[in-house]
Amino acid sequence: MEIQYMFLHFPTINKAQIYLITALTLLYPKLSMGQSLQDGIYTEEQASRGAEEYASRCASCHSADLRGNSNSPSLIGLSFMFIWEGRSLGELFTKMSTEMPTDQPGSLSQQSYAAILAFILQSNEFPSGSTELASNADRLEPIPISSQ
Ligand code: HEC
Repeated sequence: MEIQYMFLHFPTINKAQIYLITALTLLYPKLSMGQSLQDGIYTEEQASRGAEEYASRCASCHSADLRGNSNSPSLIGLSFMFIWEGRSLGELFTKMSTEMPTDQPGSLSQQSYAAILAFILQSNEFPSGSTELASNADRLEPIPISSQ
């Protein structure tokens, strides 16, 4: 849109300017965004606590490798990203912490749900970092689930 506009109204614009405008248009959403899944928003230690909780409270349905089965959806890979890409981490946290496990919804602490979410992020190969993932849906709400 913007580039077309420039063409129509400033026919003397040169190639370098077009590259610059294109680069800025592509970069702008990234610069203006807050935290992203690429920033290392959970710790390794948190994810390993989450792995233990997952094994005892979630794996019976979603399977040890997170791939799910015919009754419970996968929490890993393309099929998981297909459902969750473009939604927020807050929404995923709320889904887990209010509806899971289906036989005892909301029965874990908020910290345990956050640790399990950290484990799910680690299993989906998002990088870890030096601060723990917040155990609070409001703080996770602005973080989009995105594979890039
Ligand atoms: C008794 C079986 C069972 C257990 C235990 C269980 N789940 Fe689930 N889970 C399901 C089923 C069935 C669904 C699909 C229906 C739904 O979305 O409510 C689901 C859906 C989900 C979803 C949404 C996935 C999607 O792509 O829509 C997430 C996230 C999730 N579970 C996480 C967890 C976590 C974390 C735990 C452990 C705290 C857990 N579940 C324990 C059965 C289970």
